[in-house]
Amino acid sequence: MAFLDKHKVIETNATLLLVLSFLVVTIGGLVQIVPLFYLENTIEKVEGVRPYTPLELAGRDIYLREGCYVCHSQMIRPMRDEVERYGHYSLAAESMYDHPFQWGSKRTGPDLARVGDRYSDAWHVDHMTDPQSVVPESVMPKYGFLSNKVIDGEYIGDSMKVHRVVGVPYTDDMMENAVADFKAQANPDSDYDGLLERYGKAAVRNFDGTTALTEMDALIAYLQVLGTMVDFSTFQPDASR
Ligand code: HEC
Repeated sequence: MAFLDKHKVIETNATLLLVLSFLVVTIGGLVQIVPLFYLENTIEKVEGVRPYTPLELAGRDIYLREGCYVCHSQMIRPMRDEVERYGHYSLAAESMYDHPFQWGSKRTGPDLARVGDRYSDAWHVDHMTDPQSVVPESVMPKYGFLSNKVIDGEYIGDSMKVHRVVGVPYTDDMMENAVADFKAQANPDSDYDGLLERYGKAAVRNFDGTTALTEMDALIAYLQVLGTMVDFSTFQPDASR
């Protein structure tokens, strides 16, 4: 066959094969990558999604430090079994301020993308302190030591600065009030109007129930906001895209 004869020329000439392969991969790559630079944005903006408050961000840092992502995903796939168990499938916009994202790849424990508001703060304290006291067969480690680690937000401004560099829109106002907002969120007796003005819907509570501001407060503040920023009773996917 004439066609195969011609192909034989390529197959028997390593250099030619290499050059032509490179050409094909280059064209394929350009077709996929170039349009991304001309799209206005690759993530649909969704109402309600906001940067983490300083306390939530600190909780997120603890989540990373303790390796919670090794056992927990934060990515609900658009399949019926997942949506019925965990809630609305995850939107790209919901992790747009996550650096690095926490989608995870292993579910020894359940997905946490929508764990916010599912349990009370007290439940989280009990569960983090001794998971087996709540779920007897749980293999989750105990994290009670977080209740003894007092924090003061000393480094939260630095963390926010880094997040700003990678694109999280923390304003100058947010930066200047980082430590004040950090402390106000866990103290309902404080003046937290500024915090709510800067971040919108944010839970202000004494998360761990003790007077000291601890890593437990920060971690629970983070867990309780997961998946709660978007109001799915009014959310409409943008059909024009
Ligand atoms: C060794 C694996 C493992 C690690 C590490 C781990 N977990 Fe878990 N987690 C589990 C398992 C298994 C469950 C289900 C049983 C239970 O509720 O304890 C669970 C349940 C949970 C739940 C309840 C979820 C639900 O919808 O009922 C939360 C919240 C949670 N983990 C948070 C964390 C946090 C925060 C960390 C890190 C500080 C962490 N986990 C680390 C295994 C793990």
